[in-house]
Amino acid sequence: MNQKVVDVYNGMVTKFKELISEHELDHNDYETFVGWLNKLGQAGEVPLFMDVFFETHALQEMYKNVKGTEPTILGPYYLEDATKLTAPYVLPMRADEPGDVLFFSGTIKDVDGNPLANTVVDMWQADASGEYSGFADGIPTENLRGIFQTDADGNFEVQTVIPGDYSIPTNGPTGQFLEWIDSHPTRPAHLHFLFKPKNGDTLISQVFFEGNKYLDSDVAKGVRGTLITKLTKHDGAEKGLDKDFYKAHLDFALRLQDQPVFS
Ligand code: BEZ
Ligand code: FE
Repeated sequence: MNQKVVDVYNGMVTKFKELISEHELDHNDYETFVGWLNKLGQAGEVPLFMDVFFETHALQEMYKNVKGTEPTILGPYYLEDATKLTAPYVLPMRADEPGDVLFFSGTIKDVDGNPLANTVVDMWQADASGEYSGFADGIPTENLRGIFQTDADGNFEVQTVIPGDYSIPTNGPTGQFLEWIDSHPTRPAHLHFLFKPKNGDTLISQVFFEGNKYLDSDVAKGVRGTLITKLTKHDGAEKGLDKDFYKAHLDFALRLQDQPVFS
């Protein structure tokens, strides 16, 4: 027997029955819900729905009493085995990749301020139209995904493009649900990261951009004030580019321990 499963099952059944009584759900409502749930599964949208409504809470609860950079949603678009990059780091992109050039840099330290050299960074993001490679048609699977490492001082810099805002697909059961609850389907533009220290917990996090109009209304509630960075515009000549580019930076603090706190 798994006591955690028993406890959650009991809680869920109790809550669900209460909801039926409280909101006077009739048999029609019940059938509509079961039909919608079935469609959610058939459309392969269970991870999408769960990540929109519950993932950030699960991560926040798990780390609420620990120091370090805040975690947020992994989401359904992470792919293992992204391209391993060599310095200077540039995320794989199409020859005509749309969007503004971005040089994103970070410093990775432990929570006591010691730089973490050679820490693995696994990064992925949507393109300038808010589409993820491997999930949207017509984008090479490796696009805008890469794995690299911090240098001897715990720093990294990677060239990419500024991602677009992301929209949950509106034509499926998750989109239907968002319409029912009168929510827009958008997440503010963001970069995804997994930071993998040699002897600590992998940190799942994201970086957002100051001024984005969806920061306060992220459909997946994944924004944290500490994860917002500022884009600064630079003359292309500074980097030998033929158009202006942007820079952004954020510092990260990772938790180290011989045994991960959570496994
Ligand atoms: C994302 O961050 O890419 C994401 C998060 C939740 C649901 C869908 C996408
Ligand atoms: Fe995302």
